[in-house]
Order: sequence, then C-alpha cells, then structure tokens
Amino acid sequence: MSDKNLQLKKRNRLSLLKQSLQDNINEKGVIATFQKILKHISYKIKGIDFSEEELSKFTIESKNKNLATIHGSCGDEMLHILLDEVIKFDQTVLRGSFLDYGSGKGMAVIYAKKYGFKKVIGVEFAKELCDIANKNIKKIGLSDIEIFYMDATEFIPSKGVRVIYFLNPFHEKVLHEVLIKILKYKQLFLQDIYLIYNIPIYEQVFDKLSEFQKLTTCKYKDNKAHIYKLEVQ
Ligand SMILES: C[S@@+](CC[C@H](N)C(=O)[O-])C[C@H]1O[C@@H](n2cnc3c(N)ncnc32)[C@H](O)[C@@H]1O
Repeated sequence: MSDKNLQLKKRNRLSLLKQSLQDNINEKGVIATFQKILKHISYKIKGIDFSEEELSKFTIESKNKNLATIHGSCGDEMLHILLDEVIKFDQTVLRGSFLDYGSGKGMAVIYAKKYGFKKVIGVEFAKELCDIANKNIKKIGLSDIEIFYMDATEFIPSKGVRVIYFLNPFHEKVLHEVLIKILKYKQLFLQDIYLIYNIPIYEQVFDKLSEFQKLTTCKYKDNKAHIYKLEVQ
C-alpha cells in the first residue's frame, strides 16, 4: 500500500473512532464512555484479545468447517440488553449455566460470568480460538468457565444449562442439527431453557421447530436478536 493510501486509511480510522466516541457520549454520557475507554486500555495492557478473525487461518478439523460464519463479537452492550431481557422472564437462570455455541475468543462467556451466572460453558471448533479464550479468561482472572474444543453438533449439553447463546455462529444445516440435539437431550435439563439467537439470519430453523417458543425480539443499533423458551417439564 502506498504512503498516501496508508495516510488515508489512518485518517478514516480516526474519523470513525471520533464518531463512535461522540455516539457513545450522546447515548451513555461522559462517565460511562470514560469507563469504557479505561476498560479497553486495561484489556490492551493485559494482552486480552477479542479482535475479529478470518476462520480460514485456524486449525479446524470438522466437516462443518465451511458452514461457519466469521469470528467476531457483538460487544457487551447488546449482550447486557439480552441477558436483562431473559432475567425478566426468569431470574433463577443465574443459578444455572450459560452455554455459548461457537464461543470464539470468549468474549460472551466472560461477559456472562461477570453478569452473574454460576457456571459458563463455551463450545468452539477452532483450536487457536479455544487457546486464546482460555488465555483471556486467565488474564481477566475468572473461574467456572469451561471451554470445550469440539464441534457444536457433537456437544451434549449438561443438565444445569439454563441459557443457550448463539451469535450467528453457523449456517442453517448446523443450526438445525444443534437444535435437534438439544431437543433430543431435553430430558437432561432440570428446568426450562432460554435460547438467545443474536443476528438471527437463519431464524426459519427455529420457526420450523414448534418446541421453541419465541418470547420476544430485542433491537440494538442495527442488530436484532430473538429470545426463545424451551419448556422441559
Ligand atoms: C460469531 S463468532 C461468536 C463468538 C462468541 N460467541 C462471542 O460472542 O464472543 C462464531 C464462532 O463460532 C465458531 N463455530 C462456527 N461453527 C462451529 C461449529 N460447528 N462448532 C463449534 N464452533 C463453531 C467459530 O469458530 C466462531 O469462533
């Protein structure tokens, strides 16, 4: 890239940053924006890495490798809104586990643990992402978070799971397979399950399975997410 292009890129990035700062201040106020900046700085210093990645560079030994979306996160704010919404339906979920299918670098599992879940589980099929997630968890100093290095379709959810999270991790076929497996092992769950489908590109998969009852849809900026309930009793 030429010097001129590099300068242009830098200037664009700066103006995007300025805009996002201004939006944050308008939306949340100066103090909350300042706290957010401090958190980012502290993450940078500790070497905590939540950056987006192309999956093609990772070690993935799965038949579903080409049915994945890219790695990325929605950020704390959206997840906070979604968990607040679930809590309105049932506060007791915090005594159980939060399960993230496609847990990537661990941003959602870390946030869920900080939010107050007793236990948190992530399932991720890219080896390097599991390693980064485990490092991030250690650097932040959290416990009771377990990352399973495996394909989502092979994972059997444990009985304490109360909230299941999908941030648009995979394509229709894999989502269907995972949901069918959840239904198959439904008797393992002791209490009703809440499922969050964030960026619900393949919502028709849920719609076709009547056991998943849509409770609400949440919106945040350009994003939306559906919350479903699966009754187990
Ligand atoms: C959009 S990222 C979500 C990251 C994380 N949930 C968060 O909110 O921080 C989706 C992740 O799903 C993983 N993934 C995709 N297909 C998968 C599969 N079949 N089994 C396990 N993980 C999968 C990808 O490797 C990627 O890290």
